[in-house]
Amino acid sequence: MNLLIMGPPGAGKGTQAERLVKEVDITHISTGDMFRAAIKEGTDMGKKAKEFMDQGALVPDEVVVGMVKERLSKPDCEKGFLLDGFPRTLEQAKSLDETLKDLNIKIDGVINIAVPRERLMARLTGRRICKDCGASFHVMFNKPKEEGKCDACGGELYQRSDDNEEAVGKRLDVYEQQTQPLIDYYTNQGLLLEINGDQDINKVLDDVLAAVKK
Ligand code: AP5
Ligand code: MG
Ligand code: ZN
Repeated sequence: MNLLIMGPPGAGKGTQAERLVKEVDITHISTGDMFRAAIKEGTDMGKKAKEFMDQGALVPDEVVVGMVKERLSKPDCEKGFLLDGFPRTLEQAKSLDETLKDLNIKIDGVINIAVPRERLMARLTGRRICKDCGASFHVMFNKPKEEGKCDACGGELYQRSDDNEEAVGKRLDVYEQQTQPLIDYYTNQGLLLEINGDQDINKVLDDVLAAVKK
């Protein structure tokens, strides 16, 4: 099964993706996580991406598109994949269609996690991420068992550098202007699976699983 997961910053894409790939055994690919890994490694691409990310802006299409194309041709994608945070512009969506055509792959569904904008600031400013495995937690809504420590691997939790009020405001604007139009794009292709993301994390997962299994 090949899936996309969409939704505004803080909608719960990463949270649901972590759980979903365990249930259906497919590979989770998050472009945001790939950039953060490149930043950690100190690569040239990482350095370039960081400038955009810290301001809440999108990394230029040509950088992202090439990176995703390379990633999708790796052997661990053969069992199926869940693409999280890509595409984010119409340009990216069109180039993804081309890439999939070249690789002879089809998308089976596009999960769209909808959450009202006024909920997202609190979700993002209270988020904490595991330094080692990338799992995300929340200081109020999804507390780790031990403060500051990852439940999954024991790694140290940190706050993303783009999870401050200023960058989040910009990310939400960018989402509305550039990414939201993709909802129509995938609705027209008959692929959209609309999910209410403004519910308990486990309830959202139940709805996602039900939609995907249909
Ligand atoms: P990326 O890392 O993808 O960030 P994002 O899209 O802003 O989304 P987030 O990861 O912030 O949110 P999420 O939906 O995964 O939420 P989460 O599950 O963590 O991208 C970062 C940057 O990289 C971009 O700004 C851009 O610069 C660049 N980039 C990446 N892809 C790109 C692309 N394709 N093109 C160009 N640039 C690109 O949940 C959030 C919090 O809420 C957590 O604390 C969680 O515990 C909590 N939570 C989750 N679900 C619930 C719930 N149901 N109820 C209560 N709390 C919840
Ligand atoms: Mg995420
Ligand atoms: Zn961890």
